[in-house]
Amino acid sequence: MPDDFFAPAIRTLRELAEAEQACRRCSLYRDATQAVPGEGDPHAMLMLVGEQPGDKEDLAGRPFVGPAGRILDRALGEAGIDRRKVFVTNAVKHFKYEWRGKRRLHKKPNAGEIDICRWWLDLERRLVRPATIVAMGATAARGVFGRAVTIARERGRPQPAPDGSALFVTIHPSLLLRLEGDDEKAAEYARFVADLRAAARSSAAAAGAAQPETTASSARNSSTSTRMFSE
Ligand code: URA
Repeated sequence: MPDDFFAPAIRTLRELAEAEQACRRCSLYRDATQAVPGEGDPHAMLMLVGEQPGDKEDLAGRPFVGPAGRILDRALGEAGIDRRKVFVTNAVKHFKYEWRGKRRLHKKPNAGEIDICRWWLDLERRLVRPATIVAMGATAARGVFGRAVTIARERGRPQPAPDGSALFVTIHPSLLLRLEGDDEKAAEYARFVADLRAAARSSAAAAGAAQPETTASSARNSSTSTRMFSE
């Protein structure tokens, strides 16, 4: 969790987004258009974490609005999850890329960049307090777990986090853009949808378990969970 004693207190997602725009914790801000904060339901029971913004996200200032976002939206729809009821973010908030002619090509963030940017992801987790977090791909998993994670090994085996949330891993949706064989693509896509569905079920169950309590937080959680699945 964030440990910077001198950082200004951040109490809302809006304050967090403003602070992210001023981030100089690593050098990625220099070539990016802007930081791309997470967005969605501020009380979401389910948080989805991607790698870093891509070209489209860097320009729009919003996560998952490009090609990978279209696949994610489709998969969420098929999993019965309403994107407006979840919180979507990235492990790294600035777009890292290299120029190839006139195109900006995505470059994978390194471990140091992911670890430095965890400061922001942890603040998002602390403010939103999701019951379930899905890390999509190895970069996201490192950001969420705080260590290197092998997706194939951890997939399908949710882990409890110290803050009580359940941590799931799955593939990054951009993998589906890179696969060439139709059969392999269809199988991987179906598995991705199944992973999202399992995570949504877990967050709904967590909200259900919290229901007998009468705290404001449990009331918030239970109403969110029933709204998360689209009708
Ligand atoms: N890929 C990501 O990991 N995040 C985005 O926001 C877009 C593409």
